[in-house]
Amino acid sequence: MKKLAVFASGNGSNFQAIFDSIKLGEIQAEISVVICDKTNAGVIERAKSVNIPVVCFVPKEYTTKADFEKEVLTVLQNHKIDYVILAGYMRLIGETLLGAYENRIVNIHPSLLPAFPGKDAVGQAFQAGVKVTGVTVHFVDAGMDTGPIIAQKAIEIEAGDTIEAIADKIHKVEHMLYPKVIKKLVSK
Ligand code: GRF
Repeated sequence: MKKLAVFASGNGSNFQAIFDSIKLGEIQAEISVVICDKTNAGVIERAKSVNIPVVCFVPKEYTTKADFEKEVLTVLQNHKIDYVILAGYMRLIGETLLGAYENRIVNIHPSLLPAFPGKDAVGQAFQAGVKVTGVTVHFVDAGMDTGPIIAQKAIEIEAGDTIEAIADKIHKVEHMLYPKVIKKLVSK
């Protein structure tokens, strides 16, 4: 059974979708730990309510990114983590974690990369007036949403769609696509 660490900074709906998919027996893996960098993130309650340990860090308490990531790495090693799943984790991964988990860190991003990387991808797409956007799952490298693409799915932006409506469509797609990709990843 492969062991996953989910990294999240926010609501954690993608964490939930992955957890639910595992519970249904669709993914042969377990979420061993959630790593969080925001003490008030919704994901913390979600994980606790299904008995998954959460380790919360306050990155600004560390002098360097390497110092911070060394501590995170210790947690991952203690749990014998095979894959790191970024799910709304709002922080670039540095060389300490990238080196330890080469090709074993994946991210989900709410646009069709390389379009609209970085923060507020849904807002960026809305502002640009594109008629098609979507979701990308990719391996993580040192850049901002730049690693090799694993899977993408498009959604249409229809006349009158608000940012909230687009975000809703995006989340629905994410909750199907991410479990599907993780299922394949862990079966290799
Ligand atoms: C998702 O839209 C994901 O693509 C992005 O951050 C959001 C996280 O949502 N990286 P949630 O916390 O999983 O609900």
